[in-house]
Amino acid sequence: MRMAIAGATETVGRHVHRVAADRGHEVVPLSRRHGHDLTKGDVTDALAGVKTIIDVTGIQTLSRRRATTFFEAASRTIQASGTSAGVEHLVALSIVGIDGVDAAYYGAKLAHERAVESGDLPFTIARAAQFHEFAAQTVARGSVGPVTMTPTALLRPVAAREVAEYLVDLAESNPLGRAPDLVGPRDETLIDMVRSLLARTRLKRIAWEIPLPGPMGAAMASGRLRGTADARRGRVTFSDWLRDQHHEGA
Ligand SMILES: NC(=O)c1ccc[n+]([C@@H]2O[C@H](COP(=O)([O-])OP(=O)(O)OC[C@H]3O[C@@H](n4cnc5c(N)ncnc54)[C@H](OP(=O)(O)O)[C@@H]3O)[C@@H](O)[C@H]2O)c1
Repeated sequence: MRMAIAGATETVGRHVHRVAADRGHEVVPLSRRHGHDLTKGDVTDALAGVKTIIDVTGIQTLSRRRATTFFEAASRTIQASGTSAGVEHLVALSIVGIDGVDAAYYGAKLAHERAVESGDLPFTIARAAQFHEFAAQTVARGSVGPVTMTPTALLRPVAAREVAEYLVDLAESNPLGRAPDLVGPRDETLIDMVRSLLARTRLKRIAWEIPLPGPMGAAMASGRLRGTADARRGRVTFSDWLRDQHHEGA
């Protein structure tokens, strides 16, 4: 199938690209690096012959306003261009456990979900827990000098590769509306994940745990982002994933 991947270049998107290509799909990557800024231009031409779009775009900010503006603008482009091009299915990735956390980045993800639900394209919204790669994202975004500020968080992280396999499974099926959540096999604290990553990569940094203020920080600390008992569970633990990193060169 000809399948477009919005946000095909980074943390989860590069896995989605690889999984879809490995399964024999013809992939159309949509990201700024591929010449498509979804907050600006129309991408109808790029979507010619595309049956399904997987939306794994993201923006690196905690600002609800900035992230909402991003997701609403990107969704408008995906909906309008997808409808013009005759796309039959939009699969969008969101985050487990954010219901009622209408603040900061999670408020923007709820706005993203509403934009998908209110559009014309038949859709599937899949929510995943934080990726194992979230530890590296925390180091990249939260480091000041030798210190990595690490939000207090109790998570059930999942490998981005398994999220990608799930999204491609969904893209190969009919639109579901809301799909079952996907979480990882074990509970982890973010501070332990970050410290293990720093030890593994021999980065000379100190990780400090700090509670993030506001409802988003409260949600992270509460454990609610681990999802509910009926969620699907990934198989790869954080420590397995960390051990395998040097084999993948990731
Ligand atoms: N990280 C997690 O733990 C996690 C967990 C669950 C769900 N999610 C959700 O999964 C999605 C992807 O997360 P991620 O961590 O993989 O994000 P990421 O690493 O920041 O990647 C974002 C992707 O979006 C593309 N992008 C950004 N701005 C764009 C624009 N204006 N037009 C077109 N493409 C654009 C980027 O490519 P270019 O820079 O080339 O444009 C990149 O491919 C997000 O919606 C996030 O909320 C993340």
